[in-house]
Amino acid sequence: MNVRVAPGARDVCLPTVREIALPALWGIPGIRQRIVALPTEPVLTGEAAREREFRLGRAIAAQLLLEHGSATGRVGVGLDRSPQWPPGFIGTISHSPALLGVAIARRDAVEMRVADAPGQCGIGIDIEPIIEGAAVEDIRRFCLCEEERGVRRPLSSREDAMTVTAIFSAKEALFKCLYPIVGSFFDFCDVVIELNLQAAEIRGQLKRALSPELPVGTRVLGRCRFIEQHVVTAFAWPSSALFENITYL
Ligand SMILES: CC(C)(COP(=O)(O)OP(=O)(O)OC[C@H]1O[C@@H](n2cnc3c(N)ncnc32)[C@H](O)[C@@H]1OP(=O)(O)O)[C@@H](O)C(=O)NCCC(=O)NCCS
Repeated sequence: MNVRVAPGARDVCLPTVREIALPALWGIPGIRQRIVALPTEPVLTGEAAREREFRLGRAIAAQLLLEHGSATGRVGVGLDRSPQWPPGFIGTISHSPALLGVAIARRDAVEMRVADAPGQCGIGIDIEPIIEGAAVEDIRRFCLCEEERGVRRPLSSREDAMTVTAIFSAKEALFKCLYPIVGSFFDFCDVVIELNLQAAEIRGQLKRALSPELPVGTRVLGRCRFIEQHVVTAFAWPSSALFENITYL
Protein backbone atom coordinates (compact mmCIF):
# COMPACT_ATOMS: atom_id res chain seq x y z
CA MET A 1 0.00 0.00 0.00
CA ASN A 2 1.25 3.49 -0.83
CA VAL A 3 0.71 6.62 1.22
CA ARG A 4 0.57 10.23 0.02
CA VAL A 5 2.75 12.75 1.79
CA ALA A 6 3.90 16.34 1.51
CA PRO A 7 0.45 17.89 1.08
CA GLY A 8 0.55 21.08 -0.92
CA ALA A 9 3.80 20.08 -2.61
CA ARG A 10 4.54 17.44 -5.19
CA ASP A 11 3.32 14.09 -3.93
CA VAL A 12 5.82 11.41 -3.05
CA CYS A 13 4.80 7.76 -2.94
CA LEU A 14 6.40 5.65 -0.26
CA PRO A 15 5.75 2.04 0.66
CA THR A 16 4.30 1.66 4.13
CA VAL A 17 7.25 1.66 6.50
CA ARG A 18 7.58 1.31 10.25
CA GLU A 19 8.78 4.51 11.89
CA ILE A 20 11.54 4.26 14.49
CA ALA A 21 10.99 6.77 17.27
CA LEU A 22 14.34 8.32 18.20
CA PRO A 23 15.05 11.52 20.10
CA ALA A 24 16.44 14.32 17.92
CA LEU A 25 20.00 13.35 17.04
CA TRP A 26 21.33 16.85 16.50
CA GLY A 27 19.39 19.18 18.79
CA ILE A 28 19.32 21.81 16.04
CA PRO A 29 15.70 22.80 15.38
CA GLY A 30 16.25 23.10 11.61
CA ILE A 31 17.49 19.53 11.14
CA ARG A 32 14.73 17.05 10.20
CA GLN A 33 15.47 13.37 10.67
CA ARG A 34 13.52 10.26 9.78
CA ILE A 35 14.52 6.71 10.68
CA VAL A 36 12.47 3.79 9.35
CA ALA A 37 12.62 0.00 9.30
CA LEU A 38 13.01 -1.44 5.83
CA PRO A 39 10.19 -3.74 4.73
CA THR A 40 11.03 -7.37 5.52
CA GLU A 41 9.00 -8.61 2.54
CA PRO A 42 9.91 -9.39 -0.12
CA VAL A 43 13.28 -10.66 1.10
CA LEU A 44 15.88 -9.14 -1.22
CA THR A 45 19.65 -9.66 -1.43
CA GLY A 46 22.58 -8.19 -3.35
CA GLU A 47 21.86 -5.60 -6.03
CA ALA A 48 18.10 -5.81 -5.55
CA ALA A 49 18.41 -5.03 -1.83
CA ARG A 50 20.79 -2.15 -2.54
CA GLU A 51 18.41 -0.78 -5.17
CA ARG A 52 15.51 -0.88 -2.72
CA GLU A 53 17.57 0.91 -0.03
CA PHE A 54 18.60 3.56 -2.56
CA ARG A 55 15.05 4.18 -3.80
CA LEU A 56 13.57 4.31 -0.31
CA GLY A 57 16.31 6.69 0.86
CA ARG A 58 15.63 9.00 -2.06
CA ALA A 59 11.86 8.84 -1.47
CA ILE A 60 12.24 9.78 2.20
CA ALA A 61 14.70 12.53 1.32
CA ALA A 62 12.24 13.90 -1.24
CA GLN A 63 9.47 13.83 1.32
CA LEU A 64 11.51 15.73 3.91
CA LEU A 65 12.76 18.28 1.36
CA LEU A 66 9.30 19.05 -0.01
CA GLU A 67 7.85 19.29 3.49
CA HIS A 68 10.50 21.85 4.37
CA GLY A 69 10.18 24.17 1.43
CA SER A 70 12.51 22.83 -1.24
CA ALA A 71 11.32 23.47 -4.78
CA THR A 72 12.45 19.96 -5.68
CA GLY A 73 12.70 16.62 -3.92
CA ARG A 74 15.35 15.33 -6.29
CA VAL A 75 18.69 14.30 -4.75
CA GLY A 76 21.35 13.56 -7.34
CA VAL A 77 24.35 11.22 -7.18
CA GLY A 78 27.85 12.68 -7.53
CA LEU A 79 30.65 10.97 -9.45
CA ASP A 80 32.10 10.12 -6.02
CA ARG A 81 28.68 8.63 -5.01
CA SER A 82 27.96 11.48 -2.58
CA PRO A 83 24.36 12.74 -2.52
CA GLN A 84 23.82 16.06 -4.30
CA TRP A 85 21.25 18.10 -2.38
CA PRO A 86 19.05 20.83 -3.88
CA PRO A 87 20.28 24.44 -3.60
CA GLY A 88 19.99 25.78 -0.07
CA PHE A 89 19.83 22.33 1.57
CA ILE A 90 22.24 19.84 3.09
CA GLY A 91 21.48 16.26 4.04
CA THR A 92 22.71 12.79 4.80
CA ILE A 93 21.61 9.18 4.25
CA SER A 94 22.50 5.82 5.80
CA HIS A 95 21.10 2.34 5.43
CA SER A 96 21.64 -1.07 6.92
CA PRO A 97 19.78 -4.14 5.64
CA ALA A 98 17.15 -3.42 8.33
CA LEU A 99 17.07 0.34 8.99
CA LEU A 100 17.29 3.51 6.94
CA GLY A 101 17.96 7.03 8.16
CA VAL A 102 17.76 10.36 6.37
CA ALA A 103 18.24 13.88 7.65
CA ILE A 104 18.03 17.21 5.87
CA ALA A 105 18.36 20.86 6.85
CA ARG A 106 18.23 24.24 5.24
CA ARG A 107 21.85 25.38 5.00
CA ASP A 108 21.13 28.59 6.92
CA ALA A 109 19.77 26.65 9.92
CA VAL A 110 23.21 25.08 10.44
CA GLU A 111 25.74 27.52 9.00
CA MET A 112 24.38 30.60 10.80
CA ARG A 113 25.74 29.23 14.06
CA VAL A 114 29.27 30.39 13.31
CA ALA A 115 29.87 33.75 11.73
CA ASP A 116 33.48 33.00 10.82
CA ALA A 117 32.80 30.00 8.60
CA PRO A 118 29.94 31.10 6.34
CA GLY A 119 28.96 28.57 3.73
CA GLN A 120 30.72 25.73 5.48
CA CYS A 121 28.32 23.29 6.99
CA GLY A 122 27.45 19.64 6.91
CA ILE A 123 25.53 16.88 8.64
CA GLY A 124 26.31 13.18 8.71
CA ILE A 125 24.40 10.11 9.86
CA ASP A 126 25.47 6.48 10.04
CA ILE A 127 23.54 3.37 11.03
CA GLU A 128 25.40 0.13 11.71
CA PRO A 129 24.25 -3.24 13.02
CA ILE A 130 26.19 -4.10 16.18
CA ILE A 131 29.25 -5.98 14.94
CA GLU A 132 29.58 -9.56 16.15
CA GLY A 133 32.19 -12.29 16.50
CA ALA A 134 35.56 -12.10 14.76
CA ALA A 135 34.55 -8.92 12.91
CA VAL A 136 34.94 -6.96 16.18
CA GLU A 137 38.69 -7.62 16.21
CA ASP A 138 38.96 -6.92 12.46
CA ILE A 139 37.27 -3.54 12.81
CA ARG A 140 39.33 -2.70 15.92
CA ARG A 141 42.55 -3.54 14.07
CA PHE A 142 41.79 -1.90 10.71
CA CYS A 143 39.51 1.04 11.49
CA LEU A 144 40.34 2.20 15.02
CA CYS A 145 43.47 4.18 15.78
CA GLU A 146 45.85 3.63 18.64
CA GLU A 147 44.15 6.06 21.05
CA GLU A 148 40.79 4.36 20.47
CA ARG A 149 42.14 0.83 20.76
CA GLY A 150 43.84 1.85 23.97
CA VAL A 151 40.60 2.75 25.76
CA ARG A 152 40.07 -0.58 27.49
CA ARG A 153 37.90 -0.85 30.54
CA PRO A 154 36.46 -4.01 32.10
CA LEU A 155 33.74 -4.40 29.45
CA SER A 156 31.65 -7.45 28.71
CA SER A 157 32.15 -8.75 25.18
CA ARG A 158 28.76 -7.26 24.25
CA GLU A 159 29.74 -3.83 25.61
CA ASP A 160 33.05 -4.10 23.81
CA ALA A 161 31.28 -4.91 20.53
CA MET A 162 28.90 -1.97 21.03
CA THR A 163 31.81 0.39 21.73
CA VAL A 164 33.84 -0.73 18.70
CA THR A 165 30.74 -0.48 16.46
CA ALA A 166 29.94 3.00 17.78
CA ILE A 167 33.49 4.28 17.16
CA PHE A 168 33.48 2.82 13.64
CA SER A 169 30.03 4.26 12.92
CA ALA A 170 31.04 7.67 14.28
CA LYS A 171 33.92 7.77 11.80
CA GLU A 172 31.55 7.01 8.92
CA ALA A 173 29.09 9.68 10.10
CA LEU A 174 31.86 12.24 10.50
CA PHE A 175 33.16 11.40 7.01
CA LYS A 176 29.71 12.07 5.53
CA CYS A 177 29.44 15.32 7.51
CA LEU A 178 32.82 16.75 6.43
CA TYR A 179 33.42 15.25 2.98
CA PRO A 180 31.08 17.68 1.18
CA ILE A 181 33.00 20.56 2.81
CA VAL A 182 36.56 19.39 2.18
CA GLY A 183 35.84 17.58 -1.11
CA SER A 184 38.46 14.91 -0.58
CA PHE A 185 38.82 11.53 1.05
CA PHE A 186 40.20 11.19 4.55
CA ASP A 187 41.07 8.08 6.46
CA PHE A 188 39.88 6.35 9.62
CA CYS A 189 42.96 7.44 11.55
CA ASP A 190 42.70 11.08 10.52
CA VAL A 191 40.11 11.41 13.28
CA VAL A 192 40.11 10.21 16.86
CA ILE A 193 36.74 9.44 18.42
CA GLU A 194 35.85 9.69 22.10
CA LEU A 195 32.55 8.26 23.28
CA ASN A 196 30.46 9.13 26.28
CA LEU A 197 27.84 6.42 25.90
CA GLN A 198 26.04 7.30 29.12
CA ALA A 199 25.40 10.80 27.78
CA ALA A 200 24.93 9.59 24.18
CA GLU A 201 27.62 12.04 23.10
CA ILE A 202 30.60 11.71 20.77
CA ARG A 203 33.59 13.92 20.19
CA GLY A 204 35.65 13.68 17.02
CA GLN A 205 39.01 15.41 16.90
CA LEU A 206 41.01 15.89 13.71
CA LYS A 207 44.54 14.45 13.73
CA ARG A 208 45.21 15.83 10.24
CA ALA A 209 44.28 19.21 8.78
CA LEU A 210 41.49 18.69 6.25
CA SER A 211 41.36 22.31 5.05
CA PRO A 212 42.49 25.75 6.33
CA GLU A 213 39.17 26.00 8.20
CA LEU A 214 39.52 22.48 9.64
CA PRO A 215 43.03 22.39 11.16
CA VAL A 216 44.56 19.66 13.30
CA GLY A 217 42.79 19.57 16.66
CA THR A 218 39.38 20.71 15.37
CA ARG A 219 36.64 19.20 17.51
CA VAL A 220 33.34 18.09 16.02
CA LEU A 221 30.55 17.04 18.33
CA GLY A 222 27.96 14.39 17.71
CA ARG A 223 25.44 12.03 19.23
CA CYS A 224 25.03 8.30 19.44
CA ARG A 225 22.00 6.09 20.15
CA PHE A 226 21.44 2.35 20.28
CA ILE A 227 18.23 1.02 18.74
CA GLU A 228 17.07 -2.39 17.54
CA GLN A 229 20.54 -4.04 17.59
CA HIS A 230 22.02 -1.05 15.74
CA VAL A 231 23.96 2.06 16.61
CA VAL A 232 23.01 5.38 15.06
CA THR A 233 25.61 8.15 15.08
CA ALA A 234 25.28 11.73 13.91
CA PHE A 235 27.51 14.77 13.52
CA ALA A 236 26.96 18.37 12.48
CA TRP A 237 29.53 20.91 11.45
CA PRO A 238 29.73 23.57 12.79
CA SER A 239 28.70 21.98 16.06
CA SER A 240 30.37 23.87 18.86
CA ALA A 241 27.19 25.72 19.80
CA LEU A 242 25.25 22.49 20.21
CA PHE A 243 26.63 21.04 23.37
CA GLU A 244 27.69 23.08 26.32
CA ASN A 245 29.52 21.57 29.27
CA ILE A 246 30.12 18.36 27.36
CA THR A 247 32.14 15.88 29.40
CA TYR A 248 34.01 12.75 28.42
CA LEU A 249 35.08 9.70 30.32
C1 LIG B 1 30.88 6.61 1.96
C2 LIG B 1 30.78 5.77 3.21
C3 LIG B 1 31.03 6.66 4.43
C4 LIG B 1 29.33 5.20 3.29
O1 LIG B 1 29.11 4.56 4.52
P1 LIG B 1 28.53 3.07 4.57
O2 LIG B 1 28.46 2.68 6.02
O3 LIG B 1 29.34 2.21 3.66
O4 LIG B 1 27.08 3.11 3.97
P2 LIG B 1 25.78 3.89 4.51
O5 LIG B 1 24.60 3.12 4.10
O6 LIG B 1 25.89 4.27 5.93
O7 LIG B 1 25.84 5.23 3.65
C5 LIG B 1 25.59 5.22 2.27
C6 LIG B 1 25.27 6.64 1.89
O8 LIG B 1 26.42 7.45 2.11
C7 LIG B 1 26.27 8.58 1.28
N1 LIG B 1 27.58 8.89 0.72
C8 LIG B 1 28.30 8.16 -0.17
N2 LIG B 1 29.47 8.79 -0.42
C9 LIG B 1 29.46 9.93 0.31
C10 LIG B 1 30.39 10.99 0.45
N3 LIG B 1 31.55 11.02 -0.21
N4 LIG B 1 30.07 12.01 1.27
C11 LIG B 1 28.89 12.03 1.94
N5 LIG B 1 27.97 11.03 1.84
C12 LIG B 1 28.27 10.00 1.03
C13 LIG B 1 25.25 8.25 0.20
O9 LIG B 1 24.08 9.02 0.45
C14 LIG B 1 24.97 6.78 0.43
O10 LIG B 1 23.63 6.40 0.23
P3 LIG B 1 23.00 6.39 -1.25
O11 LIG B 1 23.99 5.70 -2.13
O12 LIG B 1 21.72 5.66 -1.07
O13 LIG B 1 22.83 7.84 -1.60
C15 LIG B 1 31.77 4.57 3.23
O14 LIG B 1 31.44 3.65 2.24
C16 LIG B 1 33.21 4.99 2.99
O15 LIG B 1 33.65 5.18 1.87
N6 LIG B 1 34.00 5.07 4.08
C17 LIG B 1 35.42 5.34 3.96
C18 LIG B 1 35.73 6.74 4.32
C19 LIG B 1 35.67 6.92 5.79
O16 LIG B 1 34.73 6.54 6.44
N7 LIG B 1 36.74 7.48 6.34
C20 LIG B 1 36.76 7.65 7.77
C21 LIG B 1 36.96 9.08 8.12
S1 LIG B 1 37.16 9.22 9.87
